[in-house]
Amino acid sequence: MMAKQKPAPKIKPLVAGNWKMNGVGKQLGEVKKLVTVLSRQKPKADVMICPPVTLLSRMVALKPKGVALGGQDCHANVDGAHTGDVSADMLKEAGAKAVILGHSERRADHGESDKAVRAKVGAAQRSGLTAIMCVGESLKQRKAGETLKVVQAQLRGSLPDKCNAKNTVIAYEPVWAIGSGLTPTVEQVAQVHGALRKALVRRFGDEGAKMRILYGGSVKPSNADELMAVPHVNGALVGGASLTAKDFYGILKAYL
Ligand code: PGA
Repeated sequence: MMAKQKPAPKIKPLVAGNWKMNGVGKQLGEVKKLVTVLSRQKPKADVMICPPVTLLSRMVALKPKGVALGGQDCHANVDGAHTGDVSADMLKEAGAKAVILGHSERRADHGESDKAVRAKVGAAQRSGLTAIMCVGESLKQRKAGETLKVVQAQLRGSLPDKCNAKNTVIAYEPVWAIGSGLTPTVEQVAQVHGALRKALVRRFGDEGAKMRILYGGSVKPSNADELMAVPHVNGALVGGASLTAKDFYGILKAYL
């Protein structure tokens, strides 16, 4: 008799906007606009914005219904002499529910290693935040056929052992697709997300099967339907197109 296969768990998608180093007070209006459109027609996905830390409390004060808020980085330590850094507890107290960690811009601009990212992921989880941990290959690595090897090594090295589907989200962001307008083909996305799912299940069992794997890199209203339909794509991490309510909602429509 054939072994009974477990049905794949139903995963609620997450669409998170990464505002990066963009946004001052006047952009708060975009959040208000987003809340208004969401109140009319709500997509079947969790919605999040990760603003620069200076806007976090101000966004929280708006009490944006249907929009969770997150940070873009945190320090691995609880407190101490780390000028310019912010701790996971500080983000949590300010009202963040999650924090993006190991984004390729942090890995490149600040030399963050897998080990450093792993320490930050652990710190975020201990503070009760969901870590949105990013992996992704460079164009050179893709051309050399190293994509799967690179993202699997990042996944292995950047996650601590106690990850579950609630405290961890993975984002696959090919470095060459970020801010470039270029996107991988659906086959390429499917291949990487499938490999990441396998690795997560191997390491975290049922929790790995339920963990959300976001795709990020030049997601826009015109390609969201196609990208979000790829197997094991459980939402998106959106940069540029998350800065206006119009474009961000255009992406969220993939889940109406
Ligand atoms: P992009 O950025 O959507 O502007 O390409 C995505 C990201 O870096 O998270």
